[in-house]
Amino acid sequence: MIDFLQGFSDASENVDEVIVLNHNSNIDDYGFTRGTAKKMDALVANKETGILVLYEESKRIIVAVRINDEIGSFDYLEAMRLSGAELLKTIEEEACGKIIIRGLKEHFLEEEAFAFLEGMALSQYRFEKYKNAPKENFLKEVYLEEGIIDRGKLIALTNIIKATAFVKDLVNEPVNFMDAVKFSETAQNLAKETGFTTEVLTKEKIRELKMGGLLAVNRGSETPPTFNIFTWKPDNAVNDQPLVLVGKGVMFDTGGYSIKISGNMSGMKGDMAGGAAVLGTLMALALNKVPYYVIGLVPATDNKISPNALVVDDVITMYDGTTVEVQNTDAEGRLVLADALVYAKQFNPELVIDLATLTGAASAITGPYGIAMMGNNKPDMDSLQQSGEFVFERLIELPFWKEFAELLKSDIADLKNVGGKLGGASVAGKFLEHFTDYSWIHLDIAGAATIDKSSGYKQAGGTACGVRLLYDYIEKKVVDKAKKTQVRDII
Ligand code: BES
Ligand code: ZN
Ligand code: ZN
Repeated sequence: MIDFLQGFSDASENVDEVIVLNHNSNIDDYGFTRGTAKKMDALVANKETGILVLYEESKRIIVAVRINDEIGSFDYLEAMRLSGAELLKTIEEEACGKIIIRGLKEHFLEEEAFAFLEGMALSQYRFEKYKNAPKENFLKEVYLEEGIIDRGKLIALTNIIKATAFVKDLVNEPVNFMDAVKFSETAQNLAKETGFTTEVLTKEKIRELKMGGLLAVNRGSETPPTFNIFTWKPDNAVNDQPLVLVGKGVMFDTGGYSIKISGNMSGMKGDMAGGAAVLGTLMALALNKVPYYVIGLVPATDNKISPNALVVDDVITMYDGTTVEVQNTDAEGRLVLADALVYAKQFNPELVIDLATLTGAASAITGPYGIAMMGNNKPDMDSLQQSGEFVFERLIELPFWKEFAELLKSDIADLKNVGGKLGGASVAGKFLEHFTDYSWIHLDIAGAATIDKSSGYKQAGGTACGVRLLYDYIEKKVVDKAKKTQVRDII
């Protein structure tokens, strides 16, 4: 992890200097020799974007230049993150351990500087614990000008990055190291360290509650299921009714008897990315002591095969008594989520948001570039979309017409678990909707939760998609509520 420190005076000896410029920058301000100044001027004048390593009297200077015409836009923030990532790459190549960053204060808004540092920090992540010779990160300390970014925000940033790294680890861990039981243990340890609470319902309790969806998916497995309840309820919470986050925790999805063919099974250790993101969001909220009451629910199991496993044509009874005719055991996410959505009712939630790597159909729409959204709460879907643009985890709303629900009618039970060939992401959403009677938003993260190729500040594997999104959304809710209360107090 990078340590962000404020003030240059504390910077020790072996510090490299980085200067971040944009096209408005005045090179003369930096007192360089003519040769260096000329090179830098040329870079800025040519509106080039990139990183330059210079030597001035044998002192190494690294210059990052970001030129973008869309200053003040969300794209500009993303460009800043990408610049930060590019800078980190150069810094690692140059094997710098400590750097000073100049120029951010003069040339960029606070949130642009924040995005730049965020891009740097996010891009430092690696998952190399199973390598015999893991590479170490060189960069440890980054000194910033005083006053460029609020100290609290820097600490918050570090905690958010920690949470994303935690989530990436969970997603990248194979199921032989991270099954449902291990997930619950990890969550319990994390909760103790960070200050939220965890309750884990074991198989016995899940049976007693008759969570038929979770039990059915688990039938083919040697590892028992767990139902995880995370609570972050600070005394100074600005909301009375909780926001409930529900995450799909399928620790590995073989498809069950509707088995995934050939290449489709690879990467399915990541089918718990929604659950991991819920846990990571609670971690970030607790670390930063965000005054918002949030509950996380993660039904966890793998989806495997044994003589006892669920088969096609089975009829199962869900937690709320709904009967479901299983027509495809690979549509298991909706079965485990349905029970969790029913469980959420007891909390009288102000809103429920679920995150799930639910359908290949959603990823066919978004690719790795975004998240598919459905739901019944327009205002919150709009704010979520705003946050999505801000953190660059973009959301696209899918059609949610009632006809999709008609495809789920069964001749012999209340519902089937699959519809026709088309509109798979919306049909899956409609299946979930059956189990809700509250304000609700469904996020299908199948496309963005894991990626095949590293790019920018993202690494191949888990992306921790959803954590920065939900954190930003909740943080803005806190600010909104505080504003409203102020107005009320004045009146
Ligand atoms: N976990 C998969 C969805 C998925 C696919 C996630 C690709 C990430 C990448 C889910 O459980 C699944 O298999 N869904 C089926 C549903 C179908 C049987 C209606 C699918 O999308 O094919
Ligand atoms: Zn599946
Ligand atoms: Zn799945």
